[in-house]
Amino acid sequence: MTPAADPWWKGGVLYQIYPRSFADSDADGVGDLPGIIEHLDYLAWLGVDGIWLSPVTVSPNADWGYDVADFCAIAPEFGTLADFDRLVALAGERSIRVLMDIVPNHTSIEHPWFVDARSSRTSDHRDWYLWADGAADGDPPNNWVSSFGGPGWTFDETTGQYYFHNHLAEQPDLNWWNDEVRDAFDAVFRFWCDRGVAGFRIDVCNIIIKDAELRDNPPATEEDDFETQMFGQRSVYNANRPEVHDVIRRWRRLADGYDEPRLLIGETPVPLDVLGEYYGAGNDELGLAFNFDFIGAPLDAGAMREIVERTEAVLPPGAWPAWTGSNHDMFRFPTRWAGDDPRKVRVALLMVLTLRGTPVLYQGDEIGMGNVTVERDDLRDPLGVRFFPYYEGRDAGRTPMQWCDGPGGGFTDAERPWLPLGDLATANVASQRSDPDSVLSLCRDVIAYRRRHPRFALADYRPLSAPEGMWAFGRGDRHVVVLNLSADTLALDRLAGNVVVCTDRARHGEVVGPGLETAPFEGLVVERA
Ligand code: NOJ
Repeated sequence: MTPAADPWWKGGVLYQIYPRSFADSDADGVGDLPGIIEHLDYLAWLGVDGIWLSPVTVSPNADWGYDVADFCAIAPEFGTLADFDRLVALAGERSIRVLMDIVPNHTSIEHPWFVDARSSRTSDHRDWYLWADGAADGDPPNNWVSSFGGPGWTFDETTGQYYFHNHLAEQPDLNWWNDEVRDAFDAVFRFWCDRGVAGFRIDVCNIIIKDAELRDNPPATEEDDFETQMFGQRSVYNANRPEVHDVIRRWRRLADGYDEPRLLIGETPVPLDVLGEYYGAGNDELGLAFNFDFIGAPLDAGAMREIVERTEAVLPPGAWPAWTGSNHDMFRFPTRWAGDDPRKVRVALLMVLTLRGTPVLYQGDEIGMGNVTVERDDLRDPLGVRFFPYYEGRDAGRTPMQWCDGPGGGFTDAERPWLPLGDLATANVASQRSDPDSVLSLCRDVIAYRRRHPRFALADYRPLSAPEGMWAFGRGDRHVVVLNLSADTLALDRLAGNVVVCTDRARHGEVVGPGLETAPFEGLVVERA
């Protein structure tokens, strides 16, 4: 059992559901809340402690739910508020907490706040968004660009000013200097917490405050990373402003005000050296912050180890890392990290589940589901639609969950799901569930081991020396995790104990030592003798 002082999520495993692609209960080709409810027993069997739902709130879907038109209502294609309440209750009966996605940086252009804001310069909600006059030559107010490409400012004819949007023009940014905006989000936060939500994943939480003087961003230089150079500027004034921490601290006070404090998970696409700042003093900002350097690293022992150890070094005392390999934006790790090589998929999954921190799985990770090629005519992500063939967008990581190899993949009874299905024979839940050697069985067994051994799940990270291509670390003084991330057979001297988990299921229970031999891309957890 987790000691009382530790919050539930510290030793637990979280699971991201992309509702549109999880399970469709009403045959319209789109996943929904009743579909999630139908699979709660599966999630309980898998052993996850919490599910984070990508947005299920009302949206015209310019960016598939991340353009919210009502923060306190469920989108009809997903169901009703009653369905949502039922989900929270039934998940709770299975000891699964439900976390929402909250999108505080922007709204939809259809949100009543923005509809009012753009109606006149003197409207009640005008100052809730970022409006500015154009430059003298009619150009936008400054040089900020959108992270989705193109100018960050759109001219609004009705009132003759520009509004700013860090994403699509359909996603105007809110003005977080305005106290009414802060109060409005407190109310949204309470609305869901009072319905039993266990916390929030906070969308792009590092960018919500912009420079009050709207200063120009400085140009990119050759020393900058690829993305910064591509945008031609450093996002100094439209992201990562120091004042964002006041807002996160405010949310943390709200979260801590509940009997069971609510968990705040930040989407924090920031350089690793500043990631620690988003945890504040370690107990007054985010509970977990997503680590994009880890997601983007190659599956290489040296590179991964370096990022993990730098993370360990930059986090303030008391802070707890989050580890994730896939999500609805960054594609699926079985393809990105593992090139769809089944051995690499297993060892990568073991890595995510055994580091010090909370693993956040993305639906399909547990069956080793890889990216799916989506043809141009089937693309739904606005970025793919806009930039194909230079960029195909994010649909390859958003295709429906593969429940079985029957019609509709067990996802839908509709003739056409909203995105095409992947290769059902390669990975599906039904066939892996009955196979003790499958990725799914491995994943479930590791989760079960973590649950049975909270001392393992909560133990510290202790670097160990290992031959090149291998990464070995202690978890506390009892366990050693050995990841052979190379194509060679590699040995680790001196280690002796019992194999409690192995990517090669046949080695489970093996007594090893002194010295352990590992096959290419094999991973093990050894309990020391
Ligand atoms: C991050 C979300 O994960 C992504 O899907 C979305 O497009 C942007 N934020 C804008 O909300």
